[in-house]
Amino acid sequence: MSTTSAAADGPRTTRAVVYDPSTGETRLRTLTIAAPRADQVLVRVVSSGVCHSDLHIVDGDWPTDAPLVLGHEGAGIVEAVGPDVRDVRVGDHVVLSWFAPCRRCEACAAGRAWLCTNTKAVSNTLPDGSTPLSDENGDPVLPFLGVGAFSEYAVVPETAAIPVDANVPFNVGALVGCAVTTGVGAAVHTAKVQPGESAVVIGCGGVGQAVVLGLRLVGAHPIIAVDLSPERLESARELGATHTLRGDDPELTAKIHEITAGAHHAFEAIGRPATIESLPGLLRAGGQAVLVGMTAIGTKVSIDPFDLADQGKSILGCNYGSSVPAVDFPRLAALHQSGRLPLDRLVGTEGTLADIHRAFTDLRTGVGLRTILHP
Ligand SMILES: NC(=O)c1ccc[n+]([C@@H]2O[C@H](COP(=O)([O-])OP(=O)(O)OC[C@H]3O[C@@H](n4cnc5c(N)ncnc54)[C@H](O)[C@@H]3O)[C@@H](O)[C@H]2O)c1
Ligand SMILES: [Zn+2]
Ligand SMILES: [Zn+2]
Repeated sequence: MSTTSAAADGPRTTRAVVYDPSTGETRLRTLTIAAPRADQVLVRVVSSGVCHSDLHIVDGDWPTDAPLVLGHEGAGIVEAVGPDVRDVRVGDHVVLSWFAPCRRCEACAAGRAWLCTNTKAVSNTLPDGSTPLSDENGDPVLPFLGVGAFSEYAVVPETAAIPVDANVPFNVGALVGCAVTTGVGAAVHTAKVQPGESAVVIGCGGVGQAVVLGLRLVGAHPIIAVDLSPERLESARELGATHTLRGDDPELTAKIHEITAGAHHAFEAIGRPATIESLPGLLRAGGQAVLVGMTAIGTKVSIDPFDLADQGKSILGCNYGSSVPAVDFPRLAALHQSGRLPLDRLVGTEGTLADIHRAFTDLRTGVGLRTILHP
């Protein structure tokens, strides 16, 4: 039990990147953030990665009525804790989770925290439905996915602030908060890839590169990386891809069958309907497609059900790499520290919160690796 409580601390100001749906603008603003209550912790954010999920908000793929502090892939240091916090202490280095599991519902009790039925992540609030953030008029601003990491400070429940070894670089910690847990988890947990099985990864941004790292970790072979950006394909090869192919190659499916005789696993890490529809055709009988990329809400795709049934193929949905933050974050960080998972190689350009527009432009155009912002 920590002896330090923030009850007397009161609110403070925080500079944060805010997306306002009423104007469509994203800009740096000064907000007020409440002191942590009950089981909440106040985290001083040190590093936050720019994920395509932030861009889904800005592009209107996932509509919101309220202004949001963007960012959900962050790491920092605990500065204050609420009176009921038990497992996290002031000074702990933590990775933020955009999925604060309740640890009580059936899914949590069964060890499937990523399916928690009490999380409010997609409502962009803390689990009790509240927001710690308000603007200069006192109007509420919501933390994207319950985190809001493009900010000097974030207030989250302690179940969303997972302590990691203090020697883990903050940039690596930030990526563990989304891209790495999602991508490595997609290979390890969702697909349960076995050594020697073949795999294709379509889309090699931050998430897809992490899928490649997860595949290498478990000994998949061959590993085929597919993207449109030569730079991304080059880095996928350095991270463990044995083959690289262009996504717009008209012979793509034939080449994948030539290399694998039909893949055991095909991961989609873009969220693009045409690519998702292509997945079953890349698989051998009994193979599985894993949907990691997120589409705009309401998107429909067309799949040939006879092929799935006749060939015993399956399609798996992957939320947060089917991972449990409290278990997987420290493990992934330790694998990095041991040299078995070179997560630092996913880090791209670094900048400040004021660089958000350049970061979004790079993300849209597939330039560079994962951008990391520092408040
Ligand atoms: N399932 C989850 O829990 C989860 C978690 C995090 C992110 N996501 C989603 O994963 C997706 C990827 O996120 P990211 O941050 O890596 O995005 P990103 O923009 O960095 O990566 C997408 C990659 O796809 C490539 N691409 C685009 N069109 C292509 C095509 N036709 N063929 C081949 N490659 C193509 C781009 O060049 C880019 O490298 C997003 O939809 C994001 O919302 C899902
Ligand atoms: Zn993300
Ligand atoms: Zn739960």
